[in-house]
Amino acid sequence: MIFDTHAHYDAAQYDEDREEVLSHLRDEGVERVVNISNGWKDMLATLELISRYPWMYGTVGIHPCEIRDLNEERFREMQILCRREKVVAVGEIGLDYYWVRDPEEKKKQREWFVRQLMLAKEEELPVVIHSRDAARDTFEIMRDEHAGSTGGVIHCYSGSSEMAEEYIKLGYFLGIGGVVTFKNAKTLKKVVREIPLSHLVLETDAPYLSPVPYRGKRNSSAYLSYVAEEIAAIKGISRRKVEEVTYNNALRLYKGVS
Ligand code: NI
Repeated sequence: MIFDTHAHYDAAQYDEDREEVLSHLRDEGVERVVNISNGWKDMLATLELISRYPWMYGTVGIHPCEIRDLNEERFREMQILCRREKVVAVGEIGLDYYWVRDPEEKKKQREWFVRQLMLAKEEELPVVIHSRDAARDTFEIMRDEHAGSTGGVIHCYSGSSEMAEEYIKLGYFLGIGGVVTFKNAKTLKKVVREIPLSHLVLETDAPYLSPVPYRGKRNSSAYLSYVAEEIAAIKGISRRKVEEVTYNNALRLYKGVS
């Protein structure tokens, strides 16, 4: 029983065969998927997808690289969309400094990040956090502006085990995906070894980040069995146990999923 806590099935990579891919997931052991919003258009596509598939849930939120999509009017609209049926979190939101040199742009990212954290609190929804090349700023904002409220997940966790400890102390889950199966992912394997299974959830970030042996190819929630297998090997437990515990963790994370 697999719960994919983070996928993007609205992505163009599935335009040719989306129905086909999605209709097979349940036969492959995938029971629940949360489709995550990125930009404004993706968010609307997510809402459309979740209305069609009973086992799929969604989020409302704007990714730090897409904040040019945001303005006051749309922000108000987002608040209303948060109340739609099967919307279970605000995300993915956060900071991404990878392409950004301009300090003003970074400041804008932080402002919209904080506002979306506030929105999550108001709407009593957990948050899905994206952080790239901004570990310290992300952590400080999470600690100061959100900790202890609605909970959430640090998606595609890529930080140190020390920072992972800090996040779990604040009550967040860590999202673990295909990267953990890569040979060179030493830090992440260490995180998985040291952090209790009770704080981990499985995620694909499909269509990206496929696990070995599909690395570089289009991802599918069904491939999470390889991620579970790797976590099981690291922790010395069975794959079934990993799938079962992370499934229940995902239900604790996304309280709106039934
Ligand atoms: Ni994502």
